[in-house]
Amino acid sequence: MTKLLHIDSSGKGSQSTTRPLTNYFSTKWREANPAGEIVYRDLTESHLPYVNGELIGAFYTPKDQLDEAKKLLLEQPDQLFEELRIADTYVFGVPLYNFGVPAVFKAYIDLIVRPGTTFSFEGDKPNGLLANKKAYIVTASGGDYSEQPLKSLDFVEPYVRAILGFVGITDVTFIRANGNDPTTIATTSDSAKKTIDSLFQLAEAR
Ligand SMILES: Cc1cc2nc3c(=O)[nH]c(=O)nc-3n(C[C@H](O)[C@H](O)[C@H](O)COP(=O)(O)O)c2cc1C
Repeated sequence: MTKLLHIDSSGKGSQSTTRPLTNYFSTKWREANPAGEIVYRDLTESHLPYVNGELIGAFYTPKDQLDEAKKLLLEQPDQLFEELRIADTYVFGVPLYNFGVPAVFKAYIDLIVRPGTTFSFEGDKPNGLLANKKAYIVTASGGDYSEQPLKSLDFVEPYVRAILGFVGITDVTFIRANGNDPTTIATTSDSAKKTIDSLFQLAEAR
């Protein structure tokens, strides 16, 4: 059965620009996949830990040598990985905060990018272990980072593409909105919705 993993990381709650857009994407996906399953995760409600010595120790301990304390530490990261593993499509809301990704999204990345789980090394060559996935990243910013001079300060798109690519997710589409005032936010959100509509029309035509 096809599965969508829908993740939000905006800290702006009902004032968020990305949340209505990831919801719009999910609704469209549901229409296109009535028998599919949607797994939803709000990273701002997930109480993710920052990686520390204990967690890193657990990540690098062979499975058959994990003690009870390490097993407990790995429960949530394992759950996050399982959500990624079982889904074939992802929609992630990743707004631009201070030129980069929200801290909760970075905390999430640090829990899922794990040796032997999402990547391995063949000699010197990294090998992403998440194959055949499609990721849609909904991002939003105050300014318009799609063009210079702000484009060079957008560390969201290059970072997210790099880290998803590292774990094997190379089919990545960005959907953008921006604005600091209601009119610009509404206009760019409408345009983002049209982009989402066209993605589903394209998929239908295939
Ligand atoms: C903590 C924080 C940092 C931000 N930093 C930037 C920034 O560096 N550049 C920018 O153009 N907008 C910045 N913004 C504005 C957000 O990108 C904008 O509000 C966008 O709508 C965020 O998406 P969201 O509403 O889904 O959270 C920032 C907002 C917050 C809350």
